[in-house]
Amino acid sequence: MTDKPEDFRSRLASIEHERTQLPAIDESMQVQSEALQAVIRDAIATNDGVIGFEHFMQMALYEPGLGYYASGLRKFGEQGDFITAPEISPLFGRCLAHFCKQALTAISADNILEFGAGSGRMAADILQELEAQNALPSAYFIMELSAELQQRQRQTLQASVPHLLERVKWLNTLPEPGFRGMVLGNELLDAMPVQRFRIEDSTIHALGVTWSEAEKQFVLQPMAADAALRQAVDHIQQTTAVTLPDDYESELSLAQGAWLASVAEFMDQGVVLLIDYGYGRPEYYHPQRNRGTLMCHFRHRAHDEPLRYIGLQDITAYVDFTAVAEAGNKQGMDLLGYGTQSGFLLENGLQDMMPDPEQVSQQALLAFAQQVKTLTMPGEMGERFKVMALGKGVEASLPGFSLQDQRGRL
Ligand SMILES: C[S@@+](CC[C@H](N)C(=O)[O-])C[C@H]1O[C@@H](n2cnc3c(N)ncnc32)[C@H](O)[C@@H]1O
Repeated sequence: MTDKPEDFRSRLASIEHERTQLPAIDESMQVQSEALQAVIRDAIATNDGVIGFEHFMQMALYEPGLGYYASGLRKFGEQGDFITAPEISPLFGRCLAHFCKQALTAISADNILEFGAGSGRMAADILQELEAQNALPSAYFIMELSAELQQRQRQTLQASVPHLLERVKWLNTLPEPGFRGMVLGNELLDAMPVQRFRIEDSTIHALGVTWSEAEKQFVLQPMAADAALRQAVDHIQQTTAVTLPDDYESELSLAQGAWLASVAEFMDQGVVLLIDYGYGRPEYYHPQRNRGTLMCHFRHRAHDEPLRYIGLQDITAYVDFTAVAEAGNKQGMDLLGYGTQSGFLLENGLQDMMPDPEQVSQQALLAFAQQVKTLTMPGEMGERFKVMALGKGVEASLPGFSLQDQRGRL
C-alpha cells in the first residue's frame, strides 16, 4: 500500500523528533551559507521585499557556486545527506540497462541522455551492464547543471569503466532537435523548484519568502497568487473533484512541465523514463495531506524546514505523477507505463541477478539480499518510488509496468 495521509503524518512526527536533533555546522559551511543568504536577501530587496518560494528554492539549490547542488558539498552516499538507489546498489542501474536495451531496440536507436547524474554511479552501472549484454549505446550523454558534479561523474566513470569513458559526453545545453533515444532521470523531478500555496478564506495564496529583521532570519509570507498558480490549483481541484479546505497548504511544480516541454522539443522519437518518490494526484492532494510533501535532508536526517541550513541541505518535494503524464500528453507524448519501483525492477531482470551461491561468499549473498530488500520492499523504496515511462513515436510495449500497474491511480 502506498502512503496514506495518516502514514505520512506519522513520518512527519518522527521528522519532528529528528529536527530537534539536527547536527551543528562548521565555520566554513556557515560562511558559505551566509554568502548565499546575502544573495537571497538582495533578490528579496529587489523584488519589493518578498520572493516566491520557487525562486527561493531555485537559489537555495542552484545559485552558482553557492547553492546546494552548485557547491562542492558532499551530497550523496554515507558521508552526504541522502542515499539514492544507484548509490545503494548496482542492481538498480543494471535493471535500468535492461529496460534501455528493450526501448532502444524497439526504436532502433542507440543514444542515452541522463539528466542530473549525481555521482555518476548509475551511468557507470548502466554502461557496464549494456556492455555485458553487447548492447552499448554509441553515446551516453549527461546533462548536469553542477560543474562540481560533472567532475565527480567523470571520476566515477574513469574509476569504473575507463574504457567506456569516450562514449560519455557532457552537455552544457540541450541537444538540437532530432534526438532519438532514451532520456533518463532518477530523482530529477523532485529536485526541481516548487511553488507553495495556501488556501485561506476559500482563496488561493502563494507562500513566499521574506527576511525578518526582527527575527534575523528568513520567514514564509503569504503573497498574491499569480494567474499561473491560481490556474494550476484550480486544475487540481477540478481534476480531483475536491474543493481544498481552508488552512490547506501544499506545493506544485511548474518547472517539471517546462522541463518536459523542452525534452519534447529536441526528441524526435524516444522514451523518457522517470523514477522518483511521488503519488498520483488524488493521493498527493488528499484533503488530509494538508501540509504538502516538502522535505529537507541534512546528514541523513529528514525534516520540514526549508529556511534552515540554506544552501547546505537538500530541499525536495514529492512528484505529482498525474501532472507529469498530463504535461507529457500536452507535448505529444504517450504514457507507456506507470508503476512501482519494485514492480519495475522485478520485471527488468532483478530476480535473475542473484549471484551464484557456489561462486560468491556468504557475505556477498547477504549484501545482495539486503540491497534487493531496500530497493523493493514496500516499507523501503519499493512502493514509495514510482517509475513512469513516456514515449514519442513508440509503439512497442516495454517491460516494467504490468506487475504493479498504477495508471489507475493517476
Ligand atoms: C536528488 S539528485 C539525484 C542525483 C542522481 N540522479 C541520483 O540518483 O543519485 C538531483 C539531481 O538533479 C539535477 N537537476 C535538477 N534539475 C535539473 C535540470 N533541469 N537539468 C539537469 N539536472 C538537473 C541536480 O543538479 C542533481 O544532480
